[in-house]
Amino acid sequence: MGSSETQVGIVGAGPAGLLLSHLLHQNGIHSIVLEVRSRAYCEERVRAGVLEYTSVELLRGAGVAERLDREGLLHGGIELGLDGERHRIPFAELTGKCVTVYGQQEVVRDLIRRRLADNGDLRFECGDVSLQQIDSGRPWIRVERDGQVDEVRCDFIAGCDGFHGISRASCPPGAFEIFDRVYPFAWLGILAEAAPSRDELLYMHHERGFALYSMRSPQITRLYLQCAPEENIDKWSDDRIWSELHTRLACSDGWKPTEGRILQKGITGMRSFVVEPLQYGRLFLAGDAAHIVPPTGAKGMNLAFADVHHLAKALHAFYRKADETRLREYSNTCLQRIWNAQRFSWWMTSLLHRFEQESPFDRRRQLAELRYLMSSRAAATDLAENYVGLPLEACIG
Ligand code: FAD
Ligand code: DHB
Repeated sequence: MGSSETQVGIVGAGPAGLLLSHLLHQNGIHSIVLEVRSRAYCEERVRAGVLEYTSVELLRGAGVAERLDREGLLHGGIELGLDGERHRIPFAELTGKCVTVYGQQEVVRDLIRRRLADNGDLRFECGDVSLQQIDSGRPWIRVERDGQVDEVRCDFIAGCDGFHGISRASCPPGAFEIFDRVYPFAWLGILAEAAPSRDELLYMHHERGFALYSMRSPQITRLYLQCAPEENIDKWSDDRIWSELHTRLACSDGWKPTEGRILQKGITGMRSFVVEPLQYGRLFLAGDAAHIVPPTGAKGMNLAFADVHHLAKALHAFYRKADETRLREYSNTCLQRIWNAQRFSWWMTSLLHRFEQESPFDRRRQLAELRYLMSSRAAATDLAENYVGLPLEACIG
C-alpha cells in the first residue's frame, strides 16, 4: 500500500477538476487529480462547445486561453428558427459581449497539457476510487492503480467527478436536498466532417421536434435532433439522420446544412438536477457532480468553471489567511448562479422542444413566446444576457 499527501484531493479530470487544479497551483496550493479514465479518453470525449464570455475571461485570466484565442470561433449572436424563417439575436449589439465556440475536449486538452508542463500530479486510469472520513478534519481517498492501493491524504476533497461519479454518493442519505426534473426527450448529436455553411448557431423549432445547427471548427459541424429518450442509435443510419436534419432545418430562403462524413454520434438524456448544499464535511462538490442542466442553453461546462473559480478563491483564503468564510459561503455563492442557469436552461428547453403531452393551449403559448422573442428587443436582451453569461462575482439571485 502506498501513501501520498496533498492539500486538495481532486476526484475527476473533467473541465471542473482540471481547471481547479490549475487555479490552485497558481495560488501555491498543491493538489492531486484522480481520474478513472485514460488521458486519451478524456481528451477525445465530445461534449459541450459553447464558452460564455465569462468562461473565456476566466480561462484567459488563468493563462490557459492561448489556443482558445487562436482557434476559438467568436460568435456575436445566434439564430432562432420558426416556420422555416430565421431570426437573429444579436448578442454583441444587445450586451456588448460574444460567446466562443471551442470544443470541451479542446479545453480539456489545453488544461492537461498545462498541468503536466507545470509538473501537476494527474493520475489517470485509477481503478476503484473511494472517499474516506470526509466528515473528519483529515479525509483521504483510497485509490487502486496498477494493481496497488494508494491512500491520498488531504485537507479537502473536491468532488469534480461528474453526474455519475462517486463523490456525491459517498455522503450519507439526507446530506443533500435534491431537486430533479427529467424531460420526456433526448438529443441525438452528431459530429460531421463538413465545413459549416452558416456563421452562427441555429436553434430551430419544428413540428417534428427541435434541431440545432452548431459547429466546432471551419471543417467540422455539430448537429443535434430532438429524439425520444429511449431512442436506439442503431436505428439511425447516416442517411436517416441527414434526411431528418434537412427536414427540420429547412429554411424558406433555400439554405440547408452541408452534409459530410459522420465522425461520431450519440444520444444524451435531458435533465435538470441540483443538490444543496454543495458541501458535506470536507468534501466540496463542483460541476456536474452537483448539478446538471439540459444542454439547450449551453450552460453545463460554463457552470462547472464558475464553481471552481469560487472554490479556488475560497481555498486560497483558507490557506493564505486561515479565513474559512469563503469556504462556508461557497455553496450559497455558487447556488445563485446555478439556479439562474437552471431557470434559463429550463426556459430555453421549454421554448424550443415539442412536448408530446402538450395541450393546444400550451402549444399556442409556446409559439406566442417564440414570436415575442423574435419581435421584442427587451425579450431578446433577456436571452442574450443569460446566454453570454452573467458576471462571475455579481450574479442575479
Ligand atoms: P465531467 O466532464 O463529467 O468530468 C468528470 C470526470 O470525472 C470525468 O473525466 C470522469 O471520467 C471522472 N470520474 C467519474 N467517476 C469517477 C471516479 N469514481 N473517480 C475518478 N474520476 C471519476 N453541455 C453543453 O453545454 N452542451 C452540450 O452539448 C453537452 N453535451 C453533453 C453530452 C454528454 C454525453 C454529457 C454527459 C454532458 C454534456 N454536456 C453538455 C454537459 C457538459 O459537458 C458538462 O457540464 C461538463 O462536462 C461538466 O464538467 P465536469 O468537469 O463537472 O464533469
Ligand atoms: C452546442 C451544444 C449546446 O447544448 C448548445 O446549446 C449549443 C451548441 C454544441 O455542442 O455545439
